[in-house]
Amino acid sequence: MSVANASEAVRIAGGVGVILAQPYSDANRECKIPCVEVDYTTAAQVLNYVNTASEQNSSPTAKLRYPKTVTGILPSPKPDVAAPGVDILAALPGGKYGFMSGTSMACPHVSGIVALIKSVHKDWSPSAIKSALVTTGSQVGTDGSNIYVEGLNRKLAYPFDMGGGLVNPEKALDPGLIYNVTIEDYCQFLASIGFLDASISVLTNVSINNSNRKGFSALDLNLPSITVPNLRNGEKVIVTRTVTNIGDVNSVYKAVIEAPPGIKITIEPQILRFNSTIKSLSFKVSFFSNQKLHGYYKFGSLTWSDDKHLVRSPIVVRVIAFKSFSDQ
Ligand SMILES: *[C@@H]1O[C@H](CO)[C@@H](O)[C@H](O)[C@H]1NC(C)=O
Ligand SMILES: *[C@@H]1O[C@H](CO)[C@@H](O)[C@H](O)[C@H]1NC(C)=O
Ligand SMILES: *[C@@H]1O[C@H](CO)[C@@H](O)[C@H](O)[C@H]1NC(C)=O
Ligand SMILES: *[C@@H]1O[C@H](CO)[C@@H](O)[C@H](O)[C@H]1NC(C)=O
Repeated sequence: MSVANASEAVRIAGGVGVILAQPYSDANRECKIPCVEVDYTTAAQVLNYVNTASEQNSSPTAKLRYPKTVTGILPSPKPDVAAPGVDILAALPGGKYGFMSGTSMACPHVSGIVALIKSVHKDWSPSAIKSALVTTGSQVGTDGSNIYVEGLNRKLAYPFDMGGGLVNPEKALDPGLIYNVTIEDYCQFLASIGFLDASISVLTNVSINNSNRKGFSALDLNLPSITVPNLRNGEKVIVTRTVTNIGDVNSVYKAVIEAPPGIKITIEPQILRFNSTIKSLSFKVSFFSNQKLHGYYKFGSLTWSDDKHLVRSPIVVRVIAFKSFSDQ
């Protein structure tokens, strides 16, 4: 049923407005009565609010406002790294020897870099290799210039465009620190986002019992990037990470923060000292926002540095002014 027909049916039935749940789209919709388009997360909150209100015999209310124009926010894929861009030449198997050119050929480049890293560091897990690629990525091009996003609106690339940055095979071989993830971590992560133990067992082929017994938070999955999806105005969110030293045994790293605009970030501890007994250390990153904006993404970074390495994590924070539309 089209939105036009649906809104007409609601109007005939005496309705005054429609809340439309669907993924973001910039299509123009012909609504016969006021229509508000929301994503599925917001729609679930609205439905929950409606159901709770009816259970409590109170009437749910909805408030309509004039729309605001928001620019520069696109639903983008969230890559970990950027690979070489368009018209890339790459060799591939098939017959004696295959040779192709195109955007997809960036993929064999990165696969080749992964194979190279694995050949040098045979004991590295896939997550360790990924960490090395992300934390050593470059935010500028090979000629030192800024990386731009091609398209209708040419703009500076941010983490949603390039993740940690452009892959750098040489640096990735010696990243200094790595963010490792164990199978147990993934199981806890899946449990924390609502997967049942039985489902996780099917995915992992490991018998799981109460995988989230430690009360794991999805934000704490030990990735080399940090994302805080809903940082509410006036609220503090703490994210935990653990790094493993794979460089010199006695290394000392200091934290350098590039906080997203309007966000206060603190790191505890700010110095990591490794030695022959201390190979891994955890730290906490606290985020605090006093932004009254709702639904905006902000970007920054955390870099651990010793004399030789810069171990950089992209940071993405989405600030919100209210938790649900009914709180406004
Ligand atoms: C990462 O964790 C895995 C176990 O999940 C382990 O085998 C590996 O040695 C760890 N370290 C690196 C550098 O991969
Ligand atoms: C793992 O896979 C094997 C073969 O399909 C199956 O027999 C076994 O029950 C599985 N184990 C778990 C814990 O899912
Ligand atoms: C999970 O562990 C608890 C406590 O160890 C035990 O009582 C329970 O039977 C286990 N459940 C399954 C499905 O194995
Ligand atoms: C490593 O550092 C810890 C904490 O500073 C210290 O207690 C330990 O003795 C050190 N180990 C070595 C071998 O120096």
